[in-house]
Amino acid sequence: MATLIKNIKSLVNIREEHLLLRGNALSQLHNINDAYVLVEDGIIAAYGEMKKLPHEIKNMPDHIIDASGQFILPTWCDSHTHLVFAGSRENEFIDKIKGLTYAEIAEKGGGILNSARKLNDTSEDQLFIDAWKRLEELSRLGTGAVEIKSGYGLTIASELKMLRVIKKLKEKSAIKIKSTFLGAHTFPTIFKENHQGYINEIINEMLPVIAQEKLADYIDVFCESGFFSAEEMEQICNAGLQYGLKPKLHINQLNSIGGIQSAIKMNALSVDHLETMTDQDIQDLSRSTTIGTLLPTAAFFLRMPYQPARKLIDANCAIAIASDFNPGSTPSGNMNFVVSLSCIQMKMLPEEAINAATTNGAFAMEVEKELGSISIGKKANFIFTKPIPSLAYLPYSFGTNLIDKVMINGQFLN
Ligand code: NIG
Ligand code: FE
Repeated sequence: MATLIKNIKSLVNIREEHLLLRGNALSQLHNINDAYVLVEDGIIAAYGEMKKLPHEIKNMPDHIIDASGQFILPTWCDSHTHLVFAGSRENEFIDKIKGLTYAEIAEKGGGILNSARKLNDTSEDQLFIDAWKRLEELSRLGTGAVEIKSGYGLTIASELKMLRVIKKLKEKSAIKIKSTFLGAHTFPTIFKENHQGYINEIINEMLPVIAQEKLADYIDVFCESGFFSAEEMEQICNAGLQYGLKPKLHINQLNSIGGIQSAIKMNALSVDHLETMTDQDIQDLSRSTTIGTLLPTAAFFLRMPYQPARKLIDANCAIAIASDFNPGSTPSGNMNFVVSLSCIQMKMLPEEAINAATTNGAFAMEVEKELGSISIGKKANFIFTKPIPSLAYLPYSFGTNLIDKVMINGQFLN
């Protein structure tokens, strides 16, 4: 089936070369004004200027869509979420308003352990129903690919339960999904004084089943003071690597404890969070192939300093931006707000933020051959904006939903 979308005010982020964007290249966004795009069987077949629309295309399509006044962008690639979770944690939100810190809440048995208790009491079917609803909401907000982590299970049974929910989401959703095993999110209470005991459980009990049932694409560890040390992270990731799971890691959210250097040594696909970066961390990251994924809505929600996006870009690091959607530090998966906040608080240019949320986001979840830009042969996953005066208007008018409709694999979401 062929669909012609014509009279597009501007077709955004056109690329025929699939390169991870660093430094100055992050601000290069190629757009075509007054454009058309042809979709065949859910795949981008052709695009160009309206005035050069070939006759054979004009007469060929089964459907014609008029996009007058609208911008069309590739859908967001949200490369870091925890969108399978049970319940919510607004009580901790109130504790934070009253002045408790993230670490103090964790010490009180709140935080990740609170979500783990809730998840333990929730059935696989219910988790799926709740996660499906969130996924549907996100897709209507323009997310067309998403990475989802486990990490609120923390027992063999519950980690597997989470990963099986993610697997089912993968099978049923038109959205591209990647799955990450985050058994090393925190130490369960019974292993508080016996770190190696839990690490052994991850390595010897969880990983073999996960590999056998093909439940994960990546492995993640929360490398942080009070959580997993860089050495513990390496031990877990090296075990994951034996099963082909590349590291994609939580690093430097609160402290810099050597995680960046360990991650680079292990060729991690990405290091995520990065609120706290030393000059050495930035320099090391810039010389590596590892992507730095910034999660500004987590910093926003926790009232923490934002990630040093400008310093990272100027140092030639490859950066992506993602939502970190989770019940504790980011109860929102709205990538439009992530893009806005990246511009407002991290001083990224609109072009940089859009590239970081599409092209580089696709690289950070290894879907760059099928998603992340308008390119021949990629999936027709498009955001149609409402009529707006310019592309910069999108991040500028934060909090306003400027999405008219979303197309996934050539089909409009209803
Ligand atoms: O990425 N920092 C670690 N994990 C999550 C938050 C976990 C939680 O509080 O539930 C994050 O921010
Ligand atoms: Fe996270």
